[in-house]
Amino acid sequence: MADSRPTTVLVTGAGGRTGSIVYKKLKERSDEYVARGLVTTQDSKEKIGGAEDVFVGDIREAESITPAFQGIDALIILTSAVPKMKPGFDPSKGGRPEFYYEDGAYPEQVDWIGQKNQIDAAKAVGVKQIVLVGSMGGTNPNHPLNSLGNGNILIWKRKAEQYLADSGIPYTIIRAGGLQDKEGGVRELLVAKDDVLLQTDTKSITRSDVAEVCIQALAFEEAKFKAFDLASKPEGTGTPTKDFKALFAQVTSRF
Ligand SMILES: NC(=O)c1ccc[n+]([C@@H]2O[C@H](COP(=O)([O-])OP(=O)(O)OC[C@H]3O[C@@H](n4cnc5c(N)ncnc54)[C@H](OP(=O)(O)O)[C@@H]3O)[C@@H](O)[C@H]2O)c1
Repeated sequence: MADSRPTTVLVTGAGGRTGSIVYKKLKERSDEYVARGLVTTQDSKEKIGGAEDVFVGDIREAESITPAFQGIDALIILTSAVPKMKPGFDPSKGGRPEFYYEDGAYPEQVDWIGQKNQIDAAKAVGVKQIVLVGSMGGTNPNHPLNSLGNGNILIWKRKAEQYLADSGIPYTIIRAGGLQDKEGGVRELLVAKDDVLLQTDTKSITRSDVAEVCIQALAFEEAKFKAFDLASKPEGTGTPTKDFKALFAQVTSRF
């Protein structure tokens, strides 16, 4: 008999801009999913409603995240190092702002060690699938995002993606284009590989659409053992994507 129990899904970075949308969408689909979130602080927890299913932990410290992983079936990783702007930047004077990472919160610690800790914790409890959100641009080691705060963020993200692909756990790696805070569900989504979309005019996507793709990836075999770039056509051009099975079926790359 098929297992009809709802799938328990942990979303990490649940206080973040995309993670909070995933958490909310999972809560709205309680017939299918039991939502859980992981955030860094009590403040982040309150920001998303403060429910008991939100755990507080730091992905850089493996023991601190263990309780959140107990009994989960799937994991959606939406954690990321976040660069901060150096104070004193005055846009009226032109030039570019400078960025930095706080000590201990460089991409190496968050996007590599932190993602690795999550993959290990998920493996230890036997999860059936991990969805990891990364970024387009990873094929170019000289991408400008890597020089931001000397963090090499895309290089460390890529290393974590490789670790996941090598883990043996069914995975879906979503390399998003530039993220926008606009309405979801109204654009035609585009999947591709090897950063080819970066050479086109369609290289952005809404956080809401990324969140939807993360959850849809849990429902289709076609999404498993796949890695793809994700962007969308501008609103009003193309046909809004509704058939996610067909979208995932278009993806042929494992990494
Ligand atoms: N910005 C773009 O245009 C763009 C483009 C392509 C891809 N992406 C990628 O897409 C993903 C989602 O982006 P976003 O802008 O929605 O994310 P975001 O709002 O920056 O959220 C990042 C989350 O990571 C969490 N986090 C950071 N350090 C942590 C730690 N040590 N332990 C646990 N959690 C930690 C933060 O938690 P708290 O809030 O609890 O502190 C935060 O919620 C990221 O991987 C990003 O790099 C971004």
